[in-house]
Amino acid sequence: MSASQTERVAAALASVRERAGPPAPTALVLGSGLGQIADAVEDATIIPYTEIEGFPRATAPSHAGRLVIGRLHGARVAIVQGRFHLYEGHPARDVALPVYLLRALGAERLIVTNAAGALNASFEPGQVMLIDDHINLTGANPLIGPEEPALGLRFPDMSRAYDPLLRFAALEAAEAEGITLRRGIYVGIAGPSLETSAERRYFASAGGDAIGMSTVIEVIAAAHAGLAVLGLSAITNEATGGPDQEPDTIEDVLANAARAGEKIARLLGRLLAEGVR
Ligand code: HPA
Repeated sequence: MSASQTERVAAALASVRERAGPPAPTALVLGSGLGQIADAVEDATIIPYTEIEGFPRATAPSHAGRLVIGRLHGARVAIVQGRFHLYEGHPARDVALPVYLLRALGAERLIVTNAAGALNASFEPGQVMLIDDHINLTGANPLIGPEEPALGLRFPDMSRAYDPLLRFAALEAAEAEGITLRRGIYVGIAGPSLETSAERRYFASAGGDAIGMSTVIEVIAAAHAGLAVLGLSAITNEATGGPDQEPDTIEDVLANAARAGEKIARLLGRLLAEGVR
């Protein structure tokens, strides 16, 4: 029989506990093109995924595949630099595994970032969207399987999956930094193909503002684990499905992720410096 998620988290924790040091109350998951945020961590302990018991390999472009623990703007943080995606073939429980490890390392809050296409026609590539809520259209859920009471409830509430206080703090930090922070609903799909134009119009009509291939599985796990979540999307391309819709290239996506990533780095810097730690 395969190991339970509870056993896998315990094994992963045992393999890093000594090096990980004191608890890290703020955890971050860095999305495509946003990995550079981890480079600013001071007194960093860097643990490659290959040294974490039971961790799969991260294979997505621009995902480093390491856990970085240290100090960022005065806050003690643990950063997952390189997440796992459904489109790589990882089952949802593998995608969720780092979230439970971060919880076991002392996380009380989780900041998730991602690269996303704009379903909302008023959004521009290079902008940042605060995730108010999500729609999980991946067809997957990390909690399917036997109940694991050591990790969380059988039927976790998702009505406040994105913490209202953290959202408020992010809006204030953006204003103080002079950053335009859009807000909206993130639609999560499995990928790896992008959406058809008809799908994009459909998702927008269903209330979606941004769309991507990550985040929703991790946020379900975070709600399960009792973590307060802040979600930020780097808007990398238009995804309106309108008549002037251009094909998307990974090069454009990563270039715009870097532009938005610079804003996300500043926003996080202010948030962490002002006590969201
Ligand atoms: N669709 C899905 N995922 C994405 C997109 C998109 O347009 N842009 C970046 N990630």
